[in-house]
Amino acid sequence: MTENPGGAVLSAQGLSLVYQTSRGPVTALQDLDMALAPGEFLSVLGPSGCGKSTLLKLAAGLIAPTRGRILLEGQAVEGPTGRVGIVFQQPSLLPWSTVIENVLIPIRALGRDLAAGRKRALELLKLVGLAEFASHYPGELSGGMQQRVAIARGLVHEPRILFLDEPFAALDAMTREHMTGELQRIWLATGCSVAFITHSIPEAVFLSDRIIVMSSRPGRVVREVTVDLPRPRNIATMAEARFNRHCAELRELFKDLVTFE
Ligand SMILES: Nc1ncnc2c1ncn2[C@@H]1O[C@H](COP(=O)(O)OP(=O)(O)OP(=O)(O)O)[C@@H](O)[C@H]1O
Ligand SMILES: [Mg+2]
Repeated sequence: MTENPGGAVLSAQGLSLVYQTSRGPVTALQDLDMALAPGEFLSVLGPSGCGKSTLLKLAAGLIAPTRGRILLEGQAVEGPTGRVGIVFQQPSLLPWSTVIENVLIPIRALGRDLAAGRKRALELLKLVGLAEFASHYPGELSGGMQQRVAIARGLVHEPRILFLDEPFAALDAMTREHMTGELQRIWLATGCSVAFITHSIPEAVFLSDRIIVMSSRPGRVVREVTVDLPRPRNIATMAEARFNRHCAELRELFKDLVTFE
């Protein structure tokens, strides 16, 4: 059966995930509801261990829910699919393959046409500012450049949704700020929906149309914030009163949310 609540590209209803471990069951997510609109930039903010990566793995079909359901364009997610792309915290590039070959991994894995994939890969390398580096090896690139290769790889098969799980966590502060602006530019150029997991409140406010805030484990959505700042956003945006009000509101919320077991 196909249904598509509110035209969402991704939606979760009553989503729960219990990990069975040698120390007993661990409820990572409980009764989580969320939706991602076509073309939307959504950030997921939440304390460490609240189930953000678990939510992403469910949405990408890497694990199955214990209860509830998760729909991609109205259809239940039943396994990994080419309709999503994922960028993890570490670039995880193959060191023995060139940049272009790394970007082509999803094309090969999905059995897509290689000539068309190569053309798209070169376009994306241009978009992420690495046109000159197609035949370089990952070890010859900086951390920020490697993460841009990972973003190109996440987009090469033209997914409906790009998931990013703390993609800039391993970068230094200046590169991270630069990459935040780059991500906005890349997203505006591709038009796909983005679900972005981050620990950084200013990063989430800068990038998002909407932010969902999760509770400590078991994770569920406790707050939703719509960010109505005009685009494209730039350094001046960060000095705006509205930007700082959003950051202050979220910081206040986090004061009460972060608890340690
Ligand atoms: N494969 C697994 N087996 C057992 N427990 C797991 C597994 N993966 C995650 N967990 C547990 O589920 C909970 C949620 O983990 P998850 O990685 O989704 O959190 P997170 O919000 O992404 O945290 P962080 O911000 O630190 O990355 C944690 O308590 C974690 O210990
Ligand atoms: Mg995580």
